[in-house]
Amino acid sequence: MARHLLTGTELDRDALLALLDRADALKAAPLSSRALEGRSIALIFERHSTRTRLSFEAGVFELGGRPIVLRRDELQLARGESVADTARVLSRHVAAVGLRTGPHELLEELAQASRVPVFNMLTAVHHPCQALADLMTLRERFGRLEGLKLAYVGDGNNVARSLALVGAIAGVQVAVASPDGYALAGDTAGARLTADPVEAVADADAVYADVWVSMGDEDSADARRAALAPYRLDDALLDRAAPGAIALHCLPAHPGEEISADVLYGPRQCIWDQAENRRHAQKALLELLVR
Ligand code: CP
Repeated sequence: MARHLLTGTELDRDALLALLDRADALKAAPLSSRALEGRSIALIFERHSTRTRLSFEAGVFELGGRPIVLRRDELQLARGESVADTARVLSRHVAAVGLRTGPHELLEELAQASRVPVFNMLTAVHHPCQALADLMTLRERFGRLEGLKLAYVGDGNNVARSLALVGAIAGVQVAVASPDGYALAGDTAGARLTADPVEAVADADAVYADVWVSMGDEDSADARRAALAPYRLDDALLDRAAPGAIALHCLPAHPGEEISADVLYGPRQCIWDQAENRRHAQKALLELLVR
């Protein structure tokens, strides 16, 4: 296991499944581990967050540690101190560092200079902590991961990429349906790419949606909504998936846009379990990174 978790591909299959086993155990007994007793974890947010901040902050506390939440505008980083020097100083005080930022290269630069583990709390390219919670949720529901089919419908973004990469490690078959101009690019780890949402969801055990207008996309919001409208996760699309298929969404949701309110709050969703599982999966990750 590498020291950092930047993309999720640092985990091999055995390590990933062991992490998910540990996440299940921590969900069953949330206060059973003191893995961070007497240690601090820095959580740096350059972008907004609800779930990631809550789940990491509460998770570190439950492991006996102290979360130190830092916003970019509170750091000398915002006034010109280098990323590398920031990493050097962080390494003298905390057991691990989480970063949410835009450029993935900035996360890599931080990790390069850090003497303590660095983990990705979202970049424009990857969102591996979300994928860990998603796999935990899938396994919770179906009792296995190998051979499951997951269809992601919408923008081929960081969440889609992490599902493809981390899902492949676990043996999940991922299909991504996106319109022209929004397709998943780069390494897709064998994910099936299509423009047809109905084709993508055929036989799928889970159908996954994400917000159409992410942070930084505000200028192209109207064009995005128009292009992505046929990819809405609603009951009609979910009916085209396998019997018993579940709906997933990393949140925040915009009911009526990328997902219907009937699905978001209905009986076929596991979305709110996903949001909770962020904490359990990330606690297992922190145990692995700092041991
Ligand atoms: N899914 C997710 O990362 O949520 P936040 O942006 O609220 O952290």
